[in-house]
Amino acid sequence: MQSNVRERLVVALDLPSASEAMTMARKLEGQVGMLKVGLELFCVAGPTMVKELGSIAPIFLDLKFHDIPTTVKRTLEAVLMLDPRLVNIHAQGGPLMMEAAAEVVRAHRAAGGRTELLAVTVLTSLDREALARLGSPEDPGELALHLAKLAKECGCDGVVCSAKEANAVRQACGEDFHRLTPGIRPRGEQSMDQARVVDPAQALRNGATWLVVGRPITLAADPVAAVAAILDEMEQAL
Ligand code: C5P
Repeated sequence: MQSNVRERLVVALDLPSASEAMTMARKLEGQVGMLKVGLELFCVAGPTMVKELGSIAPIFLDLKFHDIPTTVKRTLEAVLMLDPRLVNIHAQGGPLMMEAAAEVVRAHRAAGGRTELLAVTVLTSLDREALARLGSPEDPGELALHLAKLAKECGCDGVVCSAKEANAVRQACGEDFHRLTPGIRPRGEQSMDQARVVDPAQALRNGATWLVVGRPITLAADPVAAVAAILDEMEQAL
């Protein structure tokens, strides 16, 4: 049974060096569905690291591009050469930027690539108070849903959102429109800097396609045991 839920668990390799990332990835080989390379690791170890990790598991390249359409399009063209399983952009980069990104990713797939494009809605570290300070009076969940509908219109394949919003996104955008959810905390764990957290079983019940978990695994004394415990929690949802 664990193999089913395993495919849906993405580990965030937020580690400060290529060697630590490789060691962690090798430890978790076969235990998780995808490895997430974020800004920290990409800035330290770059495309070479992505290629190496890609031989262990499919890669979610979480670089969250947010720039004008042409810059995002050209940058995506560069990273698509690595053929990651997932890439992402910020929905708040606007509709033209999302359309440009979706066009590049579609062309990559038409040429035999496997990459799908996600749009980050509202970071899971932001709560209502943080949004108010940014000048946005909206509830994070409502804003995330609004941005998810826009991302779908613009041709994205799914969104990054809190698992709190996954069900509303699924209902509004359909089952095939992916919901990748960070801000996952196993029961009894600290939320750290995440604001909109959900436990693994609840995230699946809410309709998350993939669960992203970082520090509860990478900072654990025994990361393999931490993964096994998360998979057990996920199974409780099925
Ligand atoms: O350690 P933790 O489980 O909080 O890691 C969550 C990961 O998900 C981090 O790599 C973070 O950059 C990423 N992420 C997030 N919220 C988003 C998008 C990505 O926390 N909205």
